[in-house]
Amino acid sequence: MPLSIRPRRNRQSAAIRGLVRETRLSPRQFILPLFITEGSLDEPIASMPGCHRWSLDGLVAEAHSAWAAGIRAIVLFPRIADNLKTPQAEEAWNPNGLVPRAIRALRAALPALAIITDVALDPYNSDGHDGLVADDGRILNDETVVALCRQALCHAHAGATLVSPSDMMDGRVAALRAALDAAHFPDVGIMSYTAKYASACYGPFRGALDSAPKSGDKKTYQMDPANRREAVREARLDEAEGADILMVKPAGFYLDILHQLRSETPLPLAAYQVSGEYLMIKSAVAAGWLDEKKIVLESLTAIHRAGADLILTYFAKQAALWLAEGEE
Ligand code: PBG
Repeated sequence: MPLSIRPRRNRQSAAIRGLVRETRLSPRQFILPLFITEGSLDEPIASMPGCHRWSLDGLVAEAHSAWAAGIRAIVLFPRIADNLKTPQAEEAWNPNGLVPRAIRALRAALPALAIITDVALDPYNSDGHDGLVADDGRILNDETVVALCRQALCHAHAGATLVSPSDMMDGRVAALRAALDAAHFPDVGIMSYTAKYASACYGPFRGALDSAPKSGDKKTYQMDPANRREAVREARLDEAEGADILMVKPAGFYLDILHQLRSETPLPLAAYQVSGEYLMIKSAVAAGWLDEKKIVLESLTAIHRAGADLILTYFAKQAALWLAEGEE
């Protein structure tokens, strides 16, 4: 065939494919979410096979092991005892609560680790919502923002590197920035869940923390999966309010949102491969239907290619170890 242009020339060997590869993953762009619990036992999480709720000792050991694999950032999610959950979620800013103790333990063990905390009330709130709930069931925006500021200051005092509001209340990024600055924490950054969708993919996570809403759903604050322009609006607001990093969540079903926000903002963009995405892969692998290493690295590459600079993934440590084996 008289063909002078043959794209396959650039695919003909591993060496050439390596030269022309457009996207590369690195452990340094991964953030490992870690669940924590009171007590001295590490508990396997039934709804998320392969994940644990760590005791503080288990957390420090796991952070060391992730560090050794090349991971430099973790985000903490606490399982709060039922008797500490209240309608006002006061435990969220207890200076001796589980999260501040975990931050201090990690800071002492791994001073250079980036410690990120989730700012939202759902693990602490007896209603299971990210915000405070009025008598008629409405989620109270402005009252919640006051509580979130208390929570973030508690994390900053304990030594958090970044706080990460996942609640989707209006105006919380500006309020958090002002509260952190007023309390002399100008270096504590904000990674905002900018476009967090009301997704069916969070079920296994809510099982891990026992944090599902007791009534209603999260659709009055999390975004409608059908909307794309609304993500741009949220991104502009978060940027104007002083966010340091924007996030899209979930990741795999929302690659178009990542792609769009990548061209809308100069800020670093994160994507969260959430518990349901993790479980879809784990289930197919457990059934013998998919090759775990290949599917995980492909899913993460796709998220990065679409525009995410940072990726939160329960596969972070394992993926880092696979990457260390070298590219094909
Ligand atoms: C709650 C929060 C959720 C996740 C992270 N922070 C759950 C929710 O919004 O209901 C989900 C993460 C996952 O599914 O892996 N503030």
